[in-house]
Amino acid sequence: MKEKILKVLYESKGQYKSGEELAELFGVSRTAIWKQINSLKKEGHIIETVNKKGYQLMENDNLLVPVELQSMLDTEEIGHHIIYFDSIKSTNTYAKEIAHETPHGVVIIGNEQTEGRGRMGRGWTSPKGKGIFMSIILKPQIPPTEGAKMTQIAAAATCLGIRSITSLDVLIKWPNDVIINGKKVCGILTEMSGELNQVAYIIVGIGINVNTEEFPEDLREKGTSLLIEGKKHYSRKEMIVAILNEFEKLYQDYIKSGSLQSTIEICKKYSAMLGKEIRIIQGNKETIAKAVDITEEGLLKIAQEGGKEDLVFSGEVSV
Ligand code: BTN
Repeated sequence: MKEKILKVLYESKGQYKSGEELAELFGVSRTAIWKQINSLKKEGHIIETVNKKGYQLMENDNLLVPVELQSMLDTEEIGHHIIYFDSIKSTNTYAKEIAHETPHGVVIIGNEQTEGRGRMGRGWTSPKGKGIFMSIILKPQIPPTEGAKMTQIAAAATCLGIRSITSLDVLIKWPNDVIINGKKVCGILTEMSGELNQVAYIIVGIGINVNTEEFPEDLREKGTSLLIEGKKHYSRKEMIVAILNEFEKLYQDYIKSGSLQSTIEICKKYSAMLGKEIRIIQGNKETIAKAVDITEEGLLKIAQEGGKEDLVFSGEVSV
């Protein structure tokens, strides 16, 4: 009911809604409405309460309200249903729990994650109100071998989305990271489930350090935030909308054409590693080579000493 009250207040912005009106609408007592309003206030929503007039939702740019995000989106299939949590363990974990009975395109957003997950079993620091922590549930008709392409689409969309809002020099570090000045601002965790020739679902989890003021000592050298790099606060909702809009364009282009070309063009244009000497860690093996290309399939082409070329499918890469 809390989400529904918020929706009514959002849709009647600029006006008061009386407790009596809301109570009647939801078939509950005025006290029950009052309790829900208090809980919304605790989550950070600014709701003005005026005697004899009722409740009014005030502007708060830092809040992520699903109806507002939905009204800002320019998409056909992604984000028409957004599930929002003020606090959640991990949006990817939750998305996996509900994916089987949830339609394609649903987006889960957390205002904070208490057990945010990164790649290789690592964690993902997800402080309240500071970042973007979201997971997109996808159900494309593709075999699991194509699943990694969703990571490339997400990296390209995130890079474009952040660029459009911040004008910062945002680059893609193949395959999963988005970086600024050599430091990571965004990580992508793609997880899937399915049969040999058809995926059941793919979860694309995107974590962005937006307005994080500082990092724990061990992360300071490698991680950064848009606030630190751009020296200003950025609107998380505008950024989510920009990223989801870009994501859908690239996703639809891939599904319709069967080719990753538009995504790869972006990944190459904004690549942090093409032409550079890189270190690739795969299990216990470490290779030093030059990154020479990203193939149409989204694989990294490297040239080893002596000129021998190889394709890299996945792994940890450092520039
Ligand atoms: C990485 O670079 O290691 C990937 C980080 C992915 C973090 C995001 S935040 C939203 C989603 N939920 C999670 O628990 N992880 C991903």
